[in-house]
Amino acid sequence: MAILKIARMGHPVLAGIAHRVTDPMAPAVHSLIADMIETMLDAPGIGLSAPQVHVPARIVIFEVPENRDLESGGVPLTVLINPEVEPLSEEMEEGVEGCLSLPGMAGRVLRYTKIRYSGINLAGDVIERDAEGYQARVVQHECDHLDGILYPMRMTDLTSFGYIEEIAKASDEDVEAEAAEPEREAANT
Ligand code: NI
Repeated sequence: MAILKIARMGHPVLAGIAHRVTDPMAPAVHSLIADMIETMLDAPGIGLSAPQVHVPARIVIFEVPENRDLESGGVPLTVLINPEVEPLSEEMEEGVEGCLSLPGMAGRVLRYTKIRYSGINLAGDVIERDAEGYQARVVQHECDHLDGILYPMRMTDLTSFGYIEEIAKASDEDVEAEAAEPEREAANT
């Protein structure tokens, strides 16, 4: 196990389309996922994609802490190999996001409120779940990484984009990012 270096916005590995994993049970895939989990927990973050650790493969991991999603009570650490996401309605909502590849920054992003996602887990089984709200946001953010999309590219109003420290100083609004603590509402993913 190892803590991997996280690519930051501007690195080409974050801009490409990641390739499908042909053998989800391959030892190299499991070893990469173990390192991704260690890297995410160390950051700390609540989500991480393989391109963020310089591997252009369709793998994401995430964990929604209980206090982040009071309605569902949180989601345990989930591994999705070759994930698919489909919106279940047209409804979207704005929320603050952060990303381990844009350290210290956050912005408001529109995401589908209800989705269905699927993927292959570590045991090689297909998992499929319906998700709403915060969990749906995290999954959409992570899966975007597999298509070279970073959250600022989804922003419709860049006036909400900035350094978490400054945003927090300027407002009482909770800013929390991809990292569990991230400075409050942007969840580091
Ligand atoms: Ni991210």
